Amino acid sequence: MATSLASQEGNNFEVSNEKEEEEQGNPQRASEKINELFSTLPKGKGWWAEHLFHYQGFWLSNRALEGLLLIQDNFKPQPSDIFLANTPKSGSTWLKALLFSIVNLSRYDFSSHPLLNTPPRDIFPFLDFYFQQNKPISDIESLPSPRLFSSHLPYNLFPKSITASGCRFVSIWRDPKDVFVSQWHFMKKLRSKELPAVSMEEAFDLFCKGVSHYGPLWDHMSGYWKASLESPEKILMLKYEDMKREPLVQVKRLAEFLGQPFSIEEENKGVVQEIINLCSFDSLRNLQVNKTRDGPSNEGRPVKNPDFFRKGEVGDWKNHLVAEMAEYIDQIIKDRLCGGGLASGFCP
Ligand code: A3P
Repeated sequence: MATSLASQEGNNFEVSNEKEEEEQGNPQRASEKINELFSTLPKGKGWWAEHLFHYQGFWLSNRALEGLLLIQDNFKPQPSDIFLANTPKSGSTWLKALLFSIVNLSRYDFSSHPLLNTPPRDIFPFLDFYFQQNKPISDIESLPSPRLFSSHLPYNLFPKSITASGCRFVSIWRDPKDVFVSQWHFMKKLRSKELPAVSMEEAFDLFCKGVSHYGPLWDHMSGYWKASLESPEKILMLKYEDMKREPLVQVKRLAEFLGQPFSIEEENKGVVQEIINLCSFDSLRNLQVNKTRDGPSNEGRPVKNPDFFRKGEVGDWKNHLVAEMAEYIDQIIKDRLCGGGLASGFCP
């Protein structure tokens, strides 16, 4: 368990072996330490959780923060690992399906592909909550290489042991206005009915102050963007809107980055288009496994498989935000992200 929380520096939780053993042998004390940490952190209003905690510049739910501490202590990176990491509702479901299909191209046939009966959210592990599910570590240690993981953690919160391990990151950006609208709809599904509802105006206000799950969004984006400029071979930034506009180009780009470029024969056989079709919004959404709210993959989970497929469009914000709200978000992005040429390809 993460123990020396008071002495954390940057991303590293320095824990002496002696202390670690002491805490590992005393889970109650370790969880007291986590509670102690929560009590020291500034608190904000949560969207789907009751509260968010301000931790090293970002707003995390207690579950996400506990998950991070568990990752710090338990996750052993391999240099070949690939992380899909982005803010919630930016397109992870789509990217999960694409990443899995590309990496496993030689392993599966399109006619009997695992994605036909596995929801993308379960096609590879979501690291942030993995260690809270009491699954054996051997489950992820024995995954075939390259292992795939998804996460919503900001780059700066990833343990150094991971970012320095040589592993690769794929991050997808989406117009923050569409992210906001998508998060808002997701909250309505996920927020406990026992908690007071959050109006769209209130959510908008929180979002613009940076108080959203894993927010501020712009700091999350700039963390990956800066890292991708420093190490383009290790960090790839994709844009949801580009993927929609030119899927062929972007999927090929992704495959190249993953070190698995399509061969001429594969391209001629239409393999790239097959992957795009399999992972498209309509195709995934219409699969029985992604349509049903029952079944083992939904059991005990507050958010069901169909909730990950809403509209899948670019610009749905126009149906929800008045012009002033849209301009307000654009201005924040210009001020906070676009200065100095940073992320110029994304500026509104
Ligand atoms: P909307 O709420 O705007 O429809 P995430 O996967 O990161 O949770 O993001 C969810 C958003 O991606 C939702 O956006 C969802 O509809 C959309 N989405 C899910 N699967 C998609 C796909 N295959 N292609 C495009 N968009 C997809």
